[in-house]
Amino acid sequence: MNLLPVTGESLERGAEIIKNGGLVAFPTETVYGLGADAFNPQALAKIFDVKKRPHFDPLIIHIASPRAMEDAADFSLISNETRRKLFLLTDNLWPGPLSVVLPKNKKIPGIVTAGLQTVAIRLPSNETALKLISLSGTVIAAPSANPFGSLSPTRAEHVRDGLGDKIDLILDGGACQIGIESTVLDLTSEKIKILRPGGTPKEEIEKLIGKVESENGNRESDSDDQAFSSPGQLKSHYAPKTPLVLFNREEIINQPDSARCAGRDRTALLFFDGSTRDEWQKTDKPLKIAIIKVLSENGDPLEAASRLFEILHEIDNSNISQIIAQLAPQQGLGEAINDRLMRGSVCK
Ligand code: TXA
Ligand code: MG
Repeated sequence: MNLLPVTGESLERGAEIIKNGGLVAFPTETVYGLGADAFNPQALAKIFDVKKRPHFDPLIIHIASPRAMEDAADFSLISNETRRKLFLLTDNLWPGPLSVVLPKNKKIPGIVTAGLQTVAIRLPSNETALKLISLSGTVIAAPSANPFGSLSPTRAEHVRDGLGDKIDLILDGGACQIGIESTVLDLTSEKIKILRPGGTPKEEIEKLIGKVESENGNRESDSDDQAFSSPGQLKSHYAPKTPLVLFNREEIINQPDSARCAGRDRTALLFFDGSTRDEWQKTDKPLKIAIIKVLSENGDPLEAASRLFEILHEIDNSNISQIIAQLAPQQGLGEAINDRLMRGSVCK
């Protein structure tokens, strides 16, 4: 069995595998990552192969100390002003769910960055991740440890079910604390821009460095488009196998039969908060509901984010024909929750 609980021994084993060009899935505070030595192109090629990930989608480099940024980035190409903002961000928000995109240095193989001249770097806060990186004596490139386009894994079992024996070792560190991927922030131009909303809310970034832009990442199609600055942000992504339709609070209460994928009989309803569920309970409930779930009884976005992928995995394994999910209020972590819901919602 390639799934082991985190111990000193399994960490040593994981580090050996990374050094020898293998793949190790490991917990981070956001989601599980599928790691390989960032300087070993053959090992990196395996990541793309195992995930069936298109080669135009670059990987994030995981480091164990801020100094290691220099292993991946070229600081000579960063202006003083950007450097000042970068260190404000990393001093305050690292370790944590923030990936910074910087000019890449020559040592990082092109396969990591999908040929881009920039590289995404992050310092996770999860102890297992940090120990694995340190013991490996390198920096680790890791995408989320799921088949490309499907739900991200927030438990070791999700990794086992999605990728199983194709990877050398899964380190089981239990459930991920944050449960939604890092925020990807591009610092390579004067206009600093969020390429992917994630575990670090925009508001926290802006408190430190002032206004930043948000990329409207909803592409019209999933075709290869090199001009797109965060190539991983495909419109359909993070998708459960079950069709997912979205509603806001008013829609479900005032028009509860407005589900767009009609004619499906085993429906799961996923509420953002308990008060919307309670309001809905008072309506005529025309839909046949097999499962009712609430992301956070009190409407706490942190709790909701941490449960999102976990609950979607659970519903996906429950023989359901459609999921109807409530959008979160569009602020703080709600932005990342809605981003994932929208990318996962395609009527199939
Ligand atoms: O929380 C996370 O970020 C997790 C954990 C494992 O660290 N990782 C993760 O990786 O979500 P992945 O590969 O699933 O998503 C990485 C995102 C993609 O949207 C990719 O396009 C973007 O980061 N990205 C990576 N390098 C980039 C670069 N040089 N420029 C722009 N976007 C980049
Ligand atoms: Mg991913």
